[in-house]
Amino acid sequence: MRTINVELGDRSYPIVIKRGVLTQIGSRMSELGLKGKAAVVTNPTVGDIYADRVMKGLKAAGYKPILITVPDGEEYKSIKEASSIYDSLITHKMERGSPIVALGGGVIGDITGFVASTYLRGVPYIQVPTTLLSQVDSSVGGKTAVNHPLGKNLIGAFYQPRAVYIDPDVLSTLPEREVRAGMAEVIKYGVIWDKDFFGFLLKYSGIFFKLGREMTRAIERSCEIKAEVVGKDETEQGLRSILNLGHTFGHAIETGAGYGTFKHGEAVAIGMAMAAGLSVKLGLCGADVKDRIEGLINSIGLPIKPPGLSAEAFIESMKLDKKVAESRLRFVLITEIGKVILREVGEDDVRAFLES
Ligand code: NAD
Ligand code: GLY
Repeated sequence: MRTINVELGDRSYPIVIKRGVLTQIGSRMSELGLKGKAAVVTNPTVGDIYADRVMKGLKAAGYKPILITVPDGEEYKSIKEASSIYDSLITHKMERGSPIVALGGGVIGDITGFVASTYLRGVPYIQVPTTLLSQVDSSVGGKTAVNHPLGKNLIGAFYQPRAVYIDPDVLSTLPEREVRAGMAEVIKYGVIWDKDFFGFLLKYSGIFFKLGREMTRAIERSCEIKAEVVGKDETEQGLRSILNLGHTFGHAIETGAGYGTFKHGEAVAIGMAMAAGLSVKLGLCGADVKDRIEGLINSIGLPIKPPGLSAEAFIESMKLDKKVAESRLRFVLITEIGKVILREVGEDDVRAFLES
């Protein structure tokens, strides 16, 4: 078992990474002093496999939990579904201290966190992430959101969970393409922060999918890095932006290719390769750095080649991204493995790179 603390003063919280922790959520919540009925929010895909275990554990710890199920899919990370979760919480008279458990991937985590941040002006919530992406990224750091028809994640709040419980065993039921996509965010941590971790990922790239101790170690190190970054810059005033490596290009790819064509992690993998390419073009690092990054992405079985979008389509889409400040194109760029910088790049330079 590994516990990592996200240090945010009186809002600090633990990330517990432990095989089998899924059955202990109730007792652990009780140890945190959380009382009341408790609600578990999940979707049918995850709920059918795992809700029983969590509900039983909650009951054994003295909670009277209710189960709230929302349909599976990004399109349900909406204000409409959030509203139906409020309906259930109100109907069941969930009170201010009653905790809400998010049991699922990033979609469930984001919508549940958003509901928790607003229901009765804020109730405690617990993240129980069940995809690799949510275990290494979205469950940690308190970014909560629902989508708006005009854009992803436009309605949301920074609202930290009271704990994150990660059970690496749940990845055994996750489709391999989802595991692979989650690995893109794991690679990201090596590139932005830790060259030794990058080396570790390269060394074991062939065996992560066996979901053994190397995968658990990869989850642990990713969470350590995310906790450190969030502890230093909770609301993304500066440093936290480095977590967006590959995301500016990646979001343009997701939008340009049509949502659903690429998984978020796949688009981020291509985006990281493009960020490496732009870094070389601007003279920030040597081509060897780009080659190593592409090599690792390739060896995990993720794509590096952008789809056939025009430079203009890329640029227009990147300008709409909320990560772009005042319409200037801002990128996380790489100086060496383990070190990145934030840089605004002129539209002409970006266009020249995209056309090259
Ligand atoms: P997801 O939540 O849609 O899950 C992917 C699929 O896997 C779904 O069909 C889900 O039902 C299924 N699934 C989940 N766990 C499973 C399991 N153990 N076994 C079998 N099936 C399982 O996708 P995701 O990649 O986890 O999350 C994507 C979302 O996360 C996006 O909405 C994105 O905006 C958000 N996100 C948020 C942050 C943040 O900081 N808050 C960061 C990154 C991404
Ligand atoms: N996933 C980026 C962040 O949490 O800031």
